[in-house]
Amino acid sequence: VTTSPVYDEIGIGYSLFRRPDPRIDAVIQSALGTSMRVLNVGAGTGSYEPAGRMVVAVEPSPEMIRQRPRSAAPCLRGHAADLPFEDGEFDAAMAVLTVHHWTDPASGLRELRRVANAAVILAIDPPVHNSFWLFRDYLPEISALSTTGGAMPVDAIAEVVGADRVETVLIPRDCFDGFGVAYWCRPDAYLDPDVRRCISAFGLVHPDAVSASIDRLREDLRCGAWHDRYGDLLERETFDGGLRLIVRDAR
Ligand SMILES: C[S@@+](CC[C@H](N)C(=O)[O-])C[C@H]1O[C@@H](n2cnc3c(N)ncnc32)[C@H](O)[C@@H]1O
Repeated sequence: VTTSPVYDEIGIGYSLFRRPDPRIDAVIQSALGTSMRVLNVGAGTGSYEPAGRMVVAVEPSPEMIRQRPRSAAPCLRGHAADLPFEDGEFDAAMAVLTVHHWTDPASGLRELRRVANAAVILAIDPPVHNSFWLFRDYLPEISALSTTGGAMPVDAIAEVVGADRVETVLIPRDCFDGFGVAYWCRPDAYLDPDVRRCISAFGLVHPDAVSASIDRLREDLRCGAWHDRYGDLLERETFDGGLRLIVRDAR
């Protein structure tokens, strides 16, 4: 199994900052409905894996697998596009914040549909994600990445898996899971290199571009320019950062 080098690199320390957020977890668990046999693809360190169901995980990165807690579901090393399971072996397949990393997302999604009856996919909507203040105004290089700006559109994901619905998942102001948009009202967090290390997009942009943009953010926070432009966000409880739950219900 070949692995995405970015995850062997950024995977280190991932479980510290990428803890499952209970509000996002509730949305995922509800969408899984009564499915008992669940496949978690692109499972990482095991976030959002449901308790009380029979879960099998698939993940390509040894570094991510290494960080899975002992209590996590059994995990095979593999890719979404080549799942070693029989047709219809699972009641549901889940894929959380991972589809934009797959080299061949359409094949991976067809595999999900082949091996499972239902599907629950938490994906990013590229145009909404790219309009986030950090990416639009400080680090536009992120919007040009194939993993974010060029990611598969939500409608296309929904079509391949035969989805019944697409829901917007709002990001709480104190989101526990430190993905790219998670700190939408906590801008100082992006100044912390440990926070940035757990956000794959930062690892894919040239380090000089990242440090120039972070220097600019630091200065804007110091002189008040950030608060002048985006201070309204500090009043909000939730934010649409482009997270979309794509659900194919059990048939
Ligand atoms: C942002 S992490 C999400 C992990 C976990 N689902 C979570 O919510 O914390 C993305 C994961 O996708 C995995 N990944 C990358 N390419 C993949 C592929 N082709 N098939 C399956 N997983 C892949 C990465 O190794 C990484 O663990």
